[in-house]
Amino acid sequence: MCGIVGLVSKREVSKILLECIRKLEYRGYDSVGMVCCDGKDICTKKDIGKIDEVDKKVNFIELNGNMGLAHSRWSTHGRTTKENAHPHTDCTGDVSIVHNGIIENHLELKEELIKKGHKFSTETDTEVIAHLIEENYKGDLKDAVLAAVGKIEGSYGLGVVHKNHDEIVAARNESPLIVGIGDGENFICSDVPAILKYTRNVVYLGNEEVAVVTTDKVEFFDVNGEWVDKKVEKIDWDAEQAQKQGYKHFMLKEIFEQPRAISETINGRLDDSDILIKDEIGLSVDEIKKVKKIVIVACGTGWHAGLVGEFMIEELTRIPVEVEYASEFRYRNPIVDKTTIVIAISQSGETADTLAAMKEAKKKRAKVISIVNVKGSSIERESDSTVYTHSGPEIGVASTKAFTSQLVVLYLMTVYFGKVKGVLPQEQVRNRIRDLRRVPLQIQSILEDSDYIKECAELYYKRANALYLGRGINYPIALEGALKLKEVSYVHAEGYPAAEMKHGPIALIDKDMPVVFVATKDDRTYSKILGNIEETKSRGGIVIAIITKGDKGLKEKVDTNVHIPKNSYILTPLLSVVPLQLLAYYIADKRGCDIDKPRNLAKSVTVE
Ligand code: F6R
Repeated sequence: MCGIVGLVSKREVSKILLECIRKLEYRGYDSVGMVCCDGKDICTKKDIGKIDEVDKKVNFIELNGNMGLAHSRWSTHGRTTKENAHPHTDCTGDVSIVHNGIIENHLELKEELIKKGHKFSTETDTEVIAHLIEENYKGDLKDAVLAAVGKIEGSYGLGVVHKNHDEIVAARNESPLIVGIGDGENFICSDVPAILKYTRNVVYLGNEEVAVVTTDKVEFFDVNGEWVDKKVEKIDWDAEQAQKQGYKHFMLKEIFEQPRAISETINGRLDDSDILIKDEIGLSVDEIKKVKKIVIVACGTGWHAGLVGEFMIEELTRIPVEVEYASEFRYRNPIVDKTTIVIAISQSGETADTLAAMKEAKKKRAKVISIVNVKGSSIERESDSTVYTHSGPEIGVASTKAFTSQLVVLYLMTVYFGKVKGVLPQEQVRNRIRDLRRVPLQIQSILEDSDYIKECAELYYKRANALYLGRGINYPIALEGALKLKEVSYVHAEGYPAAEMKHGPIALIDKDMPVVFVATKDDRTYSKILGNIEETKSRGGIVIAIITKGDKGLKEKVDTNVHIPKNSYILTPLLSVVPLQLLAYYIADKRGCDIDKPRNLAKSVTVE
């Protein structure tokens, strides 16, 4: 959850570290700190608040030195106070560390260390690591770090500096940590956008691996101190892609990037009559034919994508699908075996709950395929195979383009499985491919009408509550619309299957309650949803409806409508979600919310 950056260079590092950590503020933003070392002295500045607020107060670039670490915090252990902000130090003040993760046995370790005379000055779990390093330091920093990580249980992405060493020692277990190979300087970071301006050559640290990073060399070791050979990988995003490019917020930029992001997701995976993802899926035709069940595990927006995926897969392949909250999956002895495929969906590839669910599935011998955006992530490495979404860096905390790209991957998998299983005839495959190819331009046309959604936001932004209703494949879109509004505008919103309204939520409806219906025209649920709209109107509710272009009848019935183009029923969610993302964005903007850094949230949730 927290952001980490470190740099060893021949030049002054504080300015660069500040620039880099700003790129990671989306990971955590309740406090920030930096330590720099000039070979003689080691100095720290830190405080609570967002990076710019703290920088105004402490002026980070006053820190001198060619080596340093920076950290933006999302509190887990210990309140949000200046003392609890990272970096943390030992009793001597010679060691300084930044950490992302949770040390599960910190209480026992702290007790032992106090008995040995160590003095603690924070409420964090992290501080025990600094004291463990001090306790084990005999002149070699790497050895001290190895001894310390040998004692801790839990997750860590760790950066360590010591006053007497021109090196950063980095270590990782279950929390992302990346080494950036620069020109005459080297970096560590928790997430690649931090360092993209300086290098695109990276090495992903594996679990229980340690790196010793100096200006001209990086060496890798396992936790036993054995040398490890690692591969340098090239990032295919560039720094510009990770910037706002004139948009007021990353969230808005990423909503508008969806036509391009989806085109990237599709790119190279289609010809006119086939879906070309066999190698990525990594299953033989025989294995696919033997699949008895698919279980989708994910959290938040990824879970909503999974619900849409369930609909797609069952409809077109007739393979039974279950969608599970990853956080609940392993606590109920799930029924999966080697005839089950588990699909894990994650933008960041680092969500701890999803990772834990995958491990549970693998223990039970299921095949795990992940749908991931960030390359080199923990979830990718834990999977039997990965199909990337290729949607480019998603920086806004509220997920938007990753969601639509996840839907595209699920659709590609669906059509591929349907074809392999022989339940989708060739002509249908061809038609499904043609439908998908229309989506980027259709989303573009919704975005071109976005002023209309802005006006809608202006009408309703002061309301305290909202209900989002949908049916069939659009029910998960109602959930997603409500989640987006809650996250970025702090307006209480609930998503429901429209027909469930009469079993309870209808009691909420009055003249102050906007009800957002996803009411696209199809031959399954449309007539029923018209009935639900009538029920709402007759109780004085305000109806905002996402309708299909040309649906004049419905347009006249509702208070506000936003139309989307027609495509096949199964692809409707890719279109109907876009106005709801924009509605949430514009309402939050009108309410003056900090859209890219919503309170209490972090971009990747690396704690269970
Ligand atoms: C919502 C949102 C979260 C994430 C969830 C899973 O806008 O961003 O609900 O979808 O935390 O994250 P990933 O996809 O990174 O596993």
